Amino acid sequence: MQAMSKPTVHSTPARIIHWAMALLIWSLIFAGLSMVQSLQTWQVELLAIHKSFGVVALLLVIWRLIIRLTHEQPELPKDLAPSQKRIAHLSHVLLYVAMFAMPISGYLMQNAAGRPIEFFGLFTLPAIIPVNLSAYGFFRETHSWIAWGLVALVVLHIAAALHHGLIRKDSVLQSMLGKTKD
Ligand code: HEM
Ligand code: HEM
Repeated sequence: MQAMSKPTVHSTPARIIHWAMALLIWSLIFAGLSMVQSLQTWQVELLAIHKSFGVVALLLVIWRLIIRLTHEQPELPKDLAPSQKRIAHLSHVLLYVAMFAMPISGYLMQNAAGRPIEFFGLFTLPAIIPVNLSAYGFFRETHSWIAWGLVALVVLHIAAALHHGLIRKDSVLQSMLGKTKD
């Protein structure tokens, strides 16, 4: 019997959610950073939007992890050093950790501060931890530190993707764009 060969591109659901979340996460980072710079009236609006879209990001990353675990991944190029393959894998794991930790720390920060999380003004999401000032400080710091970690990871990730696409000219960037390398 012939062995099933690995796909050459990421599955359609994996590609759609990758690019949708890339856009969403960049927007959340920029909104977050501009929000904390000063206290203008529009920042209050932006904060409400940030919180709702942040919750959407949490729902999407749960769905994304399911897609990741149920769809086969294309293999990395055979000529890539094993150490590079391990770094690529580790960076993806860290991206997932950050994609979960960001919305969870944001959610708990708001719970601990006793501030409501209104989902697009439709309904208020339940608080899962009680009001506690030191927990608020902790989750606020965590949210900020992980945000910077995420920015660093994403910058490295984009640099690596462009290195594959423009310099090595291998199949890696193509696999996320849905094009088979010929
Ligand atoms: C992937 C999801 C998220 C990303 C990437 C993100 C990103 C950020 C960033 C970059 C900041 C600025 C941090 C700083 O420099 O202090 C920020 C602030 C903030 N975020 Fe998020 N966030 C996410 C989800 C959430 C969620 C789900 C909530 C709440 C439900 C939330 C609530 C807040 C609040 C309240 C602040 C202002 C913190 C302060 O007062 O200093 N975020 N966010
Ligand atoms: C906030 C922005 C981004 C995040 C959080 C992110 C996250 C990820 C993650 C977790 C993976 C592993 C596959 C998966 O489970 O989906 C991945 C794969 C990939 N990403 Fe991104 N990504 C972002 C932006 C970008 C951008 C802007 C590019 C292109 C310039 C890019 C190019 C790629 C490529 C080519 C792969 C496939 C790598 C492989 O097959 O080993 N990503 N991304």
